[in-house]
Amino acid sequence: MSLPLRSDLHSTMETPPLEPLTSIAARYRRFAAVEARGRSPSYEALANAAADNDVVLQFLSTLPEERRQPNLFLAAVRWVLGNLPKAAELDQTVVEHGEAIRQTILTRRTQTNEPARCAVLMPVLAGLAPPLALLEVGASAGLCLLPDHYSYDYGRQQVPPAGVHAGDAPLFKCSANDDTPLPEGPLSITWRRGLDLNPLNMSQEDDRHWLETLVWPEQTERLDRLTAAMAIARRARPTVTHGNLLQDLERIAAEAPKNATLVIFHTAVLSYVATQSERQAFAKTVRALDAHWISNEAPTVFPEHATGALSAPQPDAFLLALDGKPLAWTGPHGQSIHWFS
Ligand SMILES: C[S@@+](CC[C@H](N)C(=O)[O-])C[C@H]1O[C@@H](n2cnc3c(N)ncnc32)[C@H](O)[C@@H]1O
Repeated sequence: MSLPLRSDLHSTMETPPLEPLTSIAARYRRFAAVEARGRSPSYEALANAAADNDVVLQFLSTLPEERRQPNLFLAAVRWVLGNLPKAAELDQTVVEHGEAIRQTILTRRTQTNEPARCAVLMPVLAGLAPPLALLEVGASAGLCLLPDHYSYDYGRQQVPPAGVHAGDAPLFKCSANDDTPLPEGPLSITWRRGLDLNPLNMSQEDDRHWLETLVWPEQTERLDRLTAAMAIARRARPTVTHGNLLQDLERIAAEAPKNATLVIFHTAVLSYVATQSERQAFAKTVRALDAHWISNEAPTVFPEHATGALSAPQPDAFLLALDGKPLAWTGPHGQSIHWFS
């Protein structure tokens, strides 16, 4: 199939109204300024380049709205090219590889699995009665289902792994304020299960490579930790079942052993659920189950959890809540936890 020339791209693309382009540009600028700045200079530059370029904006505007995220677009560009273009070459890349980038965007998801988020789940999990049965909704590859397989460094305290693969465990550093109740030892987990619209399988090279591509360039430490966690998951094989958290939660929860504390948790997931009423329906379902509920999400996801919380220490902080009660602000990648006194 021949690739479209720049002129073809212009002529076959209906010119969208100004407003969508302006709002896409604003979204990419916000991503550059708030999310990528200080974390990935190349993503910051590319997101700004996208926001400034009509060819790129028009390409993005032809995608379904829920597929226009900067994360997904930039990962797709990287997946197709094998590396990233210079910011000044982004429009040419879109012209030359637009169809392959589009197919990648339409067939894959932003399902970054960040095992370091276990560092902020640990203080909550350690406070619940053992043994635990873990059910993670939006589990991706299930790397957050293995908190007992990793090592943690909270500065004033280290927590070793309990798993049999202890020698290979990645170390997650997490800065914790003095009020954070740090776990004193590994957890006792007797059952674990994930649920995801698109479970990723760590024994498949393609899935592993996509997860690696989702880690932002320059975040080499994160990539190293992910690689180590993926190797553990290949051996520990956490089960992630295909399903929708809005429909399949009760069915999976019913499979949990009755002699363990069932914990239903999610991190960076409910923002993908389109409407507030659907999120509330999910919350109602979780509350009706005989289970604890841990939510680690952007504060806008369940605004009622944020009531009474202090103002967030950083614009992209997540709010950690147990059974609807706010507990802490957390770094979005598990790098920090600020427990409410
Ligand atoms: C950004 S990833 C987060 C993965 C993991 N929780 C973590 O923190 O590393 C979001 C995941 O939620 C899944 N997801 C989104 N909507 C879902 C739904 N309605 N039901 C089940 N999974 C969903 C996606 O497929 C994706 O794997």
